[in-house]
Amino acid sequence: MCGIVGYVGSDTKAKDVVMNGLRRLEYRGYDSAGITLYNARFRIFDTYKDIGRVEHLAQISKLAMPSTIGMGHTRWATHGAVTKNNAHPHSSQSGRFIAVHNGVIENSDELKKQYLSDIYFSSDTDTEVIIQMIEKLSIQMSVENAISTTLKLLEGSYALLIIDTHNPETIYAGKNKSPLVLGSSKDGHIIASDIMALSDYCDSFVALKDETFTVVHDNRAHFFDLNHQLIEPEYLKIDNDFYQAEKGEFEHYMLKEIYEQPSVIRRIISRYLLDEKDEIDEHIAQQIELSNRLYILAAGTSMHAGYIGKFLFEKYAHKPAEVHIASEFAYGQPWISDKPFYIFISQSGETADLRACLTKIRKTDAKVLTITNVKTSTLAREADFSVDLLAGPEIAVASTKAYVAQIAILAILADKIGAGLDIKASLNRVALVMDKLLKEQKISEIVKEKLVKRNCFYIGRECDYYTSLEAALKLKEISYIQAEGFAAGELKHGTIALIEKNTPVIALIGNRELSAHTRSNLKEVIARGAQPIVIAMRNASLSSDDIIVEDVHEALTSMIMVVPTQLIAYYAALDRDLDIDKPRNLAKSVTVE
Ligand code: F6R
Repeated sequence: MCGIVGYVGSDTKAKDVVMNGLRRLEYRGYDSAGITLYNARFRIFDTYKDIGRVEHLAQISKLAMPSTIGMGHTRWATHGAVTKNNAHPHSSQSGRFIAVHNGVIENSDELKKQYLSDIYFSSDTDTEVIIQMIEKLSIQMSVENAISTTLKLLEGSYALLIIDTHNPETIYAGKNKSPLVLGSSKDGHIIASDIMALSDYCDSFVALKDETFTVVHDNRAHFFDLNHQLIEPEYLKIDNDFYQAEKGEFEHYMLKEIYEQPSVIRRIISRYLLDEKDEIDEHIAQQIELSNRLYILAAGTSMHAGYIGKFLFEKYAHKPAEVHIASEFAYGQPWISDKPFYIFISQSGETADLRACLTKIRKTDAKVLTITNVKTSTLAREADFSVDLLAGPEIAVASTKAYVAQIAILAILADKIGAGLDIKASLNRVALVMDKLLKEQKISEIVKEKLVKRNCFYIGRECDYYTSLEAALKLKEISYIQAEGFAAGELKHGTIALIEKNTPVIALIGNRELSAHTRSNLKEVIARGAQPIVIAMRNASLSSDDIIVEDVHEALTSMIMVVPTQLIAYYAALDRDLDIDKPRNLAKSVTVE
């Protein structure tokens, strides 16, 4: 993944712009960070980099001179271990070219062997291959040609910023598959992985297209394809309010985002369900009606929302739907119906596995809808239709409010094709019940008392099973407790062997009709020493249950059942004193396959 940001302009604010940008891009990776800034007095670039977070970089670079040009990087390691040497920026052998890069160059070893066997490499990164190629080619051709020729040779993904120290007031930027946007302000340009890094300074931006590059100099940006033909950029307005997010009174973004869920649902109702202004393109429902099978593609948490979507479309709207792991669908050979309609679910709208699916689907004439929280994201732009989740910026790496918004949107779409969910009233009720639950919750005590082991199981049936998958993922990713979600009836077919004294088993009982079955499965594990925790809807509850949530429409119980599980994950991580908003090894936007 990684986040990159560069500034070139007439103001000496490069360091502030780049550091602020890196802070906002840290969700993309936080193994190591680096910055390079032009020191006009000595006509050199000062580079600072180290393993660790952006705040550490701020410390080690605090004496850097004010500068009008600079660029930085926050890393999520792909090629090469997390070391200072592998941290970006990287330089070419002579030091003439400097680059920061997000992406993976799949043929870097071949390029190194074929063209660069005489070059000394100081890191294990694929990025260094790019910059060494540019230096080598620039001996025989102009820098722009050396860049475009190099970019043509690359296989894989890149969002790349390059500085030629012989011409220090210019930034070159190239893009393929990894996101890259350029924002313009009155004193200069900012180029970054995400609009978040521009929004404090710019009102408009251009999303660079794949296999293009831009040259930014003298307060102008020129855009080219890889044959060096000029292309016309399309400037779009930045919705600056969207990108403002502060923790406020909350200790962590994750907790804040959990508590924002009722207001997200109300925002969705007010934008999509008030009769006078339904902002969802009416063609989406038509396409769903016309298709004979829906293919829901997503990864991780978004895929779990996809399962709930399948449940809603099939059980209530009688529309067949399949859910596929994006990375499997992209290269597998699943049977596809003769009238498919694809629904991509992605909070970031940048997930590389989904982009690979899109490449495959584009060879057919099927249509694609992207449901995303970033309406300007790559997948929103490249799909035929998109629906904005309206969840507001989700800063914590673990997704919570975007997940609930995804289910709300899927429910609205199912309702549009006849699911009969009385959707406006039902979503209003969910928001109300969620408010109450969040006000009264006592989950931290339950976690302290009962979640004492290194492992844990969630069980449930039908859509409680899907929620149990999401609940287990959330617990794993932020508390590092080994957790698994199971269909309640399936545990006895093998996994029950793992149950020992005090193993926590959390039963989700949102479905009254199936509650007796789930409770029997719970008894099976209690008989083997498990520590049970029961989360139940009021109409399926027993007074002894640990957490009882008020009833909502039976189709939407998963929206409410997931909330206690988000809080369980949060308090388990808090108890263990972990970095809740930035769990280890993860990143919010997964732009590598
Ligand atoms: C977990 C989480 C991830 C993402 C997954 C897909 O909390 O957020 O599992 O859901 O990486 O990302 P998006 O939704 O951006 O496509």
